[in-house]
Amino acid sequence: MADEWQEAYEFAVEVARKAGMVIKQEIDKEMKVLTKSSTVDLVTKTDERVEKIIIGSLKTKFGEKAHKFIGEESTEKGCELTDAPTWIIDPVDGTTNFVHGFPFVAVSIAFAVKKELEFGVVYSCLEDKMYRARNGKGAFCNDEPISVSDVKDITKSIIISEHGTDRTPAKVEKIFSTMQKILCIPVHGLRGSGTAATNMCLVATGAVEAFFEIGIHCWDVAAGAVIVREAGGIVLDVSGGPFDLMSRRMLSANHEDIAKRIIKEIEVFEVPRDDGV
Ligand code: IPD
Repeated sequence: MADEWQEAYEFAVEVARKAGMVIKQEIDKEMKVLTKSSTVDLVTKTDERVEKIIIGSLKTKFGEKAHKFIGEESTEKGCELTDAPTWIIDPVDGTTNFVHGFPFVAVSIAFAVKKELEFGVVYSCLEDKMYRARNGKGAFCNDEPISVSDVKDITKSIIISEHGTDRTPAKVEKIFSTMQKILCIPVHGLRGSGTAATNMCLVATGAVEAFFEIGIHCWDVAAGAVIVREAGGIVLDVSGGPFDLMSRRMLSANHEDIAKRIIKEIEVFEVPRDDGV
């Protein structure tokens, strides 16, 4: 049988590059900044424009109705992942970075069929790094194969976590308490690029051993999940159970020893699911 999704995979890389060019052109311009779920959850006209460009290009290529779309800026109600071929898109992952000119901003495009992720593309556009992976076909950065680190001792690791955009004091306390406990294991360092998609690619290249966050959305991590797995890593729920794309909880790691040690320290808190279930 012909390779059904290869064309879509290659086209996603093209579209991510085109979207990244727009972001690069807009980052130095004066921009109007609006807010979404909280006063620190930012959005700009570029987020909306880039999402329209991505979805428009995909619809032109594959037809209006053949595929479904979940996009950060266009999905108003709960995200519905069905058996239909579905694109999961974050046009500007790292909007806060984009607004401030902090140099990590990514376009994240994933594709799922029958609720399973088939491929993922993350274009870290300011660094000009194109990460991509397809199930069973390996993970790449700018066409070079990538793989996770082989460090299994957490005291020799760098871990990424982020604090997200919910500033409810009780949640922030849990996030920082978790970070403090992990820092004091001790680990070599804690980091955060400000984009979940890029953070996952840093796990995939072996620059860090793990990244976890509670409060991310499906569009932040869908593409990165394929890239981490294809680079030899694992993607789990923060409790150690199976990863659930709609749960807004994710831990990605190079190895289960690192993941288990982190899970011992994570103070879990409730967040509403992306699918509203
Ligand atoms: C955000 C980034 C950030 C993460 C937040 C996300 P956005 O995505 O991925 O690293 O901490 O939870 O919402 O809003 O810039 O697309």
